[in-house]
Parts: sequence; structure tokens; C-alpha cells
Amino acid sequence: MSSTNTSTPTILVTGGAGYIGSHAVLALEQAGYQVVILDSLEYGHQELVEQHLNAKLIKGNTTDRALLDQVFTQYKFAAVMHFAAYIAVGESVTAPADYYRNNVYGTLNLLQAMEAAGVKRFVFSSTCAIYGPPKTVPIPEDHPKNPISPYASSKLMVEMMLKDFQKAYGLQSVCFRYFNAAGADPQGRLGEDHNPETHLIPLVLQTALGKRDHISIYGTDYPTRDGTCIRDYIHVADLANAHVKGVQYLIDGGETTFINLGNGSGFTVREVIEAARQVTEHPIPAVECERRPGDPPSLIGSSDHAREHLGWVPQYADLEIIIGHAWQWHQKRHG
Ligand SMILES: NC(=O)c1ccc[n+]([C@@H]2O[C@H](COP(=O)([O-])OP(=O)(O)OC[C@H]3O[C@@H](n4cnc5c(N)ncnc54)[C@H](O)[C@@H]3O)[C@@H](O)[C@H]2O)c1
Repeated sequence: MSSTNTSTPTILVTGGAGYIGSHAVLALEQAGYQVVILDSLEYGHQELVEQHLNAKLIKGNTTDRALLDQVFTQYKFAAVMHFAAYIAVGESVTAPADYYRNNVYGTLNLLQAMEAAGVKRFVFSSTCAIYGPPKTVPIPEDHPKNPISPYASSKLMVEMMLKDFQKAYGLQSVCFRYFNAAGADPQGRLGEDHNPETHLIPLVLQTALGKRDHISIYGTDYPTRDGTCIRDYIHVADLANAHVKGVQYLIDGGETTFINLGNGSGFTVREVIEAARQVTEHPIPAVECERRPGDPPSLIGSSDHAREHLGWVPQYADLEIIIGHAWQWHQKRHG
């Protein structure tokens, strides 16, 4: 068994070298937990872990059962937080096998290793994409599930496994369905650095930095207040805090639950670009394009359940604050 302090709960964080996972590790450490990260480093950033986190980093893959058994033998974990996944919706359409192997098989492997080691608490990164085109907005957790990409299907399959694992093995999980994660550590230590980048706010900020000629606006004739799509942007530090509350909920004996994490309000693409112009004081050229297939006009989550069950309230709901923290990070990282 590892030499970590036995009075402090230790959490295994898969994907902890990635964008959201690294912020969750920071929040766990600030809350007094010890953390072990398992990350393949296919997309993660080892140097950020080494510079800003105390966690032990193990380079490895969730699909490697022998490695998982070794890690679960070495450490006694109070819970597992599972961020490790492939995340590109478009790529999942052309390479579904990679997504089902990494996101579904990798998770099954992890759950089986947990079961073998007697670890019964699991926090999972799911997505609002499992709802598909919304029938009601804000979207509640009991909204019908209609994933329209292999990525979203892979997440819904894991949610289904988690319900069955609770019944059969007593595994208790908190399944967080994120809306659009955005922003960066308010102190500028960590932030979003995906390659390729597909998310609106980093693309807008790359345009502000002159790394891109313009930002494309896909569709200006949606039935929204200015014709462009509305999305719910949730600050990554707020997501991270919800994860700490999720772990505490399970340690306190909480049972499997499925929880949206969003701001409960949305912003249009034009509003995001305009806010970024204000924050960065750069012109940010925008080009209007045709709609992309499969983009719903409006995606906003109801976060009532998170407030009631976890006592979670977003601290950084203001769009300019979200973009301001992201801008601070992008200038430091790419400026
Ligand atoms: N970014 C968003 O807006 C958003 C929205 C909804 C859900 N999510 C979910 O949140 C989680 C984290 O997303 P992110 O934006 O931080 O992505 P990210 O790519 O920055 O982080 C994922 C990390 O997992 C690692 N990884 C991938 N597959 C692995 C495997 N099989 N074994 C070990 N490590 C592996 C990668 O190297 C990377 O460091 C994902 O599960 C994603 O589906 C993200």
C-alpha cells in the first residue's frame, strides 16, 4: 500500500492532466484531498501537472487492466473521478470504434478494476449531448435521451452501465452532465489547451491573438434573439467545485444520481464574440456562414438539481468574467 497519509482520503483522477480534470485536481487539493492522476498524456499536459499540482502522475491508459490492478493495489482510494475520454464530436462520427473503445470499454475496464479492489464511489464526466435536440429549455435531467453522435452515445452507454452497476455491485456514482465548459483557473495557473480546438471561446481568443484570421459564425437565422445559437457556458472552476461536492456527497453515503452542470442561462454566439471584444480590446473579425448540421438553436441546462442535492451555486456565472479568465490564460500560454 502506498505511503500516502491514511487520514486524508485519496482520490484517483483519470484524465487529470486534461482541461477539466486538472482544475478538478486543483480543487480537490485545495479541499485537502490527496490525488493520484492516471492519464495517457495523449491530450494532457504533463508540465502543467508538474508545475501547479501536487498529485502523483501515472502515465497510463484506462484500457490497460493490468496497470489498473497495479494502481488499485498500490493505493487505497476513497473514490474515482473519471474524466479520461476522447471528446471530439465530429471525429467520433468518422472514427466511432475509437470512441467506443476508449470511452466505453476503457470505462468498463476501470469499473471492473474498481469492483475487484472494492472501491465503490465514482464521479463521471457525462455531457448534455446525451439529450440530443432539446424538447424543453432549460433542459431538466429527466428530459428524453437522444444522442446524435457516437461521442454522446458513448457517454449515455456509461450512464446505463452505472445504473446497472449500482443494482448489481452497490457502486454509487455521481454522473455530471456538463454544458459548455469554459474559462480558466482565476489565478491563471491552468486553462484550456485542446489540439485541435473546437470550442467557441478559445477559438475567439485565438482570433484576438492573431492566430486565426477570423471566427466563423455558423447560422444567423436561428429562432433566437439575434439569430445565432445559444449555449450555456459554465466556468471550469465552478465545474471543479461541483466535483469536490460530488465526492463529498458519496463519502457521506449519497446514492447514484445524475446532475446537470450549467449556468442556467445562455449566451448567443454574437454575444460571446462581443464580450470577447470588450475584454480583449481587439476587433475579432467574424464571418457569417451557413448552419452546421445537427446544431440545435438553444442548449441551456436546468441546474436546480445541483443546487438542491449538492448545495452547488456557480460563482463565475458572468460571461465577461469567464472570458476574462480564459483571456488571461491564453495570453500567458499562447501570447
Ligand atoms: N470540455 C467540455 O466542454 C466538456 C463538455 C461535456 C463533457 N466533457 C467531458 O469532460 C471530460 C474532460 O474533458 P476535457 O475537455 O478536459 O478533455 P481533455 O482532452 O482536455 O482531457 C481528457 C484527458 O484524458 C486523457 N485520456 C483520454 N483517454 C484516456 C484513456 N483511455 N486513459 C487515460 N487517459 C486518457 C487525455 O490525455 C486528456 O488529458 C471528458 O470525459 C469529456 O467528455 C467535456
